[in-house]
Amino acid sequence: MSTATWHHLSEWFQNDDPIPFQTAHGRTFWDHVGHEPRRFTEAMACDSRLVTSVLVKDCKGVFDGLNSLVDVGGGTGTLAKAIADAFPKLECTVLDLPHVVADLQGSGNLKFVGGDMFEAIPTADAVLLKWILHDWSDEESVKLLKRCKEAIPSKGGKVIIIDINVENNKKGNDEKSIETQLFWDMLMMAMVMGRERTEKEWAKIFVDAGFSNYKITPVLGLRSLIEVYP
Ligand SMILES: C[S@@+](CC[C@H](N)C(=O)[O-])C[C@H]1O[C@@H](n2cnc3c(N)ncnc32)[C@H](O)[C@@H]1O
Repeated sequence: MSTATWHHLSEWFQNDDPIPFQTAHGRTFWDHVGHEPRRFTEAMACDSRLVTSVLVKDCKGVFDGLNSLVDVGGGTGTLAKAIADAFPKLECTVLDLPHVVADLQGSGNLKFVGGDMFEAIPTADAVLLKWILHDWSDEESVKLLKRCKEAIPSKGGKVIIIDINVENNKKGNDEKSIETQLFWDMLMMAMVMGRERTEKEWAKIFVDAGFSNYKITPVLGLRSLIEVYP
């Protein structure tokens, strides 16, 4: 599916489709995966297993002081379940599109909610966005971040983002890693009209969405943990 997209790049340059994926497949990426949801959510769950151990073992402090968390676009809940198991007092909610969570049962301190994250997000002390904002343009990301801000308390609340922070202007960075980060940037452009962002670009959308501060911790290989505060 992604290889076919690249084969249609020259055709896309000459038409009015918003993204190369649409030229290749005749519909948007989200429509496409909506027709074959299991394959995509399983691929995402696989990545979540990779991130889980680092997050719940090495970055425990991120969850200090939180009583509730909502994993927005959390798919089938692999990451939220691991967090819920590691922190039994933390009430965890997974919000994803209704067809993704339709057959999923919560248990203990984990529950699933179907809905559109651009419309409303359940209230919680923290919102988790793993591999979400890179799927969307700056305009859509600001809209989503504003919804997140409405969902968390103005004191003590935060948004926890797991995404790439492109570090192409820092000396001493491993060239291969930067190359891969930039490849992801092209992939997001071709597949979903999204993008990878540098720190300056992240800071801009945080300010535009009304947040006052953020902290970036590069702990997840190509990706970083970004905490954003109201
Ligand atoms: C790239 S996947 C990331 C999944 C998960 N966070 C992870 O990292 O494994 C993006 C997720 O966003 C969900 N999504 C897309 N549009 C959405 C919307 N409008 N409201 C809620 N979820 C949405 C998709 O169904 C998908 O599960």
